[in-house]
Amino acid sequence: MAVSHYQVEGADHCDWTDWEAAGRTRGEPCGNASDSWRQYEDDAFLARAAGANAFRFSISWSRVEPRRGVFDDEVLERYVRFVDQLLALGIEPVVTLFHYTHPRWFHEQTPWTSIASVLEFGIFARRVVAAFGDRVRFWVILNEPLVFLLGGYLDGQIPPGISDSRSLNRVFDHLLAAHCFAASEIRTRVPHAAIGVAHNMMGFGPHRDWHPLDRLLVRSAQTMYNRGVIEAFATGRWKFLLPPGTTIRGRRDELPVYLDTFGVNFYSRLHLRCPGTTRWIGDFDYSDRTGLGLTDNGWEISPETLGPLLDDAAQSGFPLVITENGLADADDRLRPEFLRAHAREIARAEARGVPVHGYFHWSLIDNYEWLDGFEPKFGLYAVDRATMARTPRGSVAVFRELGREFLHLNDENSLRDAQLSLHPSGAE
Ligand code: FCB
Repeated sequence: MAVSHYQVEGADHCDWTDWEAAGRTRGEPCGNASDSWRQYEDDAFLARAAGANAFRFSISWSRVEPRRGVFDDEVLERYVRFVDQLLALGIEPVVTLFHYTHPRWFHEQTPWTSIASVLEFGIFARRVVAAFGDRVRFWVILNEPLVFLLGGYLDGQIPPGISDSRSLNRVFDHLLAAHCFAASEIRTRVPHAAIGVAHNMMGFGPHRDWHPLDRLLVRSAQTMYNRGVIEAFATGRWKFLLPPGTTIRGRRDELPVYLDTFGVNFYSRLHLRCPGTTRWIGDFDYSDRTGLGLTDNGWEISPETLGPLLDDAAQSGFPLVITENGLADADDRLRPEFLRAHAREIARAEARGVPVHGYFHWSLIDNYEWLDGFEPKFGLYAVDRATMARTPRGSVAVFRELGREFLHLNDENSLRDAQLSLHPSGAE
């Protein structure tokens, strides 16, 4: 099961809050989100009730370090209480350190364009690791670094809202350096920890099957969007093109050493058309090509896309974990079949020898969906925005059933064991 801090906790004042205040998001501001800052322990019970044996959540940097160099121990203790609750329920806590938001001081004082960002992130990571000690054995340091790079520094849609292709190389390199720094902090304290990254992977298909330019654009999108990050973590070197014409190139030989598992966030497929009607380089859209329907926010349901993406991710050479997968479906009309179809794809991939060690569903509860506010309902449990009460959707039973089969097929008593069989490099 997966959530992220800003999307569920509520009352977290950070760069994204300012973004909302500046009118840069659609829909309502995040406000109390899903009230999980107060209800985390109950949420852990809901995850247990759905049969989950692992729970991915993230740490709010803005709560932990509201002013630069000033850390809030009560906040860290609150997270520790939540982790203890998960452990008491037999659920493996999986901690993400970066899930898009930053403390308010960050972009002013130590932005990702400056090398100081790496040190600041490392110091934050050190404090979190010290608070958790060896309670947490599975860490995802960065959530979707490429999505953040594109949104924050190329099209300027998310904080810090910069649109400067000259900054891209530096920011990407600093994010990866921050990964290495945080990973070394984790390893120092918890030598057997498994360290991961969550990479957003998209399916791409030609708008017109027969059209050579559409097909060429699909191949370029696969290389830049899906494979660039895989290559970086697999080899410590990267070189890919970002539209309209920036080459992202760099090298950090230590990067593969600081990874144990490669996480895939998978949601949908885009259809590409070149030249586009609005931009010469191309247009993209979602359309229902499989007949499985579109989600509430208009994304195509395309489970058969997952298999080839897992094959690509396996090229990283690391064991894989699906760190996010889910859909917006308020009526829970499409979710049962969505879950089953994706589980089938995962089973097929495993049968081909792709090492999939775990699956995290996005999401446990309805939450704040960034630019789209509260409209999309991703939860296995619905959240009443007035009372903050949680109600199970029918899919909870489907998830529980599939979870049992998945664990049975994997011949493991629990996903916890499966996750711990990831081989942390340098641990023995
Ligand atoms: C992913 C994000 C996650 C959530 C889902 C729907 O890309 O990591 O926070 O918004 O999309």
